[in-house]
Amino acid sequence: MNDAMLKTLDLSGQVALVTGASSGLGAHFAKVLSQAGATVVAAARRIDRLESLVANIAATGGKAIAVEMDVNNSDSVVAAFDTVQASEGVISIVVNNAGVADPSRFIDSTEENWDFTVDTNLKAVWRVSREASARMIQAGVAGSIVNISSILGLHPSANNTLYATAKAGVIQLTKNSAQELWRHNIRVNALCPGYFETEINADFFKSEKGVQYLKKIPPRRLGQMDELTMPLLMLASNAGSFISGIALPVDGGHLVQSL
Ligand SMILES: NC(=O)c1ccc[n+]([C@@H]2O[C@H](COP(=O)([O-])OP(=O)(O)OC[C@H]3O[C@@H](n4cnc5c(N)ncnc54)[C@H](OP(=O)(O)O)[C@@H]3O)[C@@H](O)[C@H]2O)c1
Repeated sequence: MNDAMLKTLDLSGQVALVTGASSGLGAHFAKVLSQAGATVVAAARRIDRLESLVANIAATGGKAIAVEMDVNNSDSVVAAFDTVQASEGVISIVVNNAGVADPSRFIDSTEENWDFTVDTNLKAVWRVSREASARMIQAGVAGSIVNISSILGLHPSANNTLYATAKAGVIQLTKNSAQELWRHNIRVNALCPGYFETEINADFFKSEKGVQYLKKIPPRRLGQMDELTMPLLMLASNAGSFISGIALPVDGGHLVQSL
């Protein structure tokens, strides 16, 4: 790769927020962004886990800070942005990754299931994106927002109505906010992972049902974290400077399964 190509991926001088960085995909995204040169703000509720991640990033020569943030609480979100802005400057890259799963049959789902699933997976993405973009606009800073949706935002799945509805909402939120924010040099895109083993689904993929499920789908396996690295980096960095408003599946072809 030549120097000009490498430079488009360089995030030096940028401050990048990753929500839900205390485990799974979020911890991986935080490491990737720090390896590309960004100062990473690792946010979640479990601060002990964030501190281990920050130490891990520091040990490999990166810079990260741990910030407690409950994405469902607007005071917590604003306080975290204030703290970071005072010490690091304006956040210009946001990865809206915090998410929860609470599978149930459509007919059995409750008001509580809806609020839990849709608040964290959809409303919080709106809350954090709005806070971040208002600050970027006020400071005249260009930016990139990457919303972590799912292939379930693009295709239905049994027992996942609430999660899939929220993730589909994230895609429409992505397109609409991209449409309003392009004039401020803020790009907004969605990444739609297929299945990657994390705490959100480990029990299922360890079960016989999970093993059998994987045998039947393209690509007949789970994704590996590294397979999300360059898609995330492309959307977050200037490598994706002419890309806004897309929903990019990273699923080994799972969505092209024959119906
Ligand atoms: N794994 C997959 O196969 C897959 C596929 C498609 C999409 N996704 C999406 O990828 C994202 C990450 O999921 P994952 O698989 O890495 O799951 P995970 O390991 O369970 O991580 C979820 C993260 O979200 C955070 N979180 C949950 N509620 C929060 C809240 N109220 N405030 C702040 N942070 C909160 C958790 O941190 P705390 O509990 O410490 O707050 C945790 O760090 C989710 O949006 C998920 O829907 C995952």
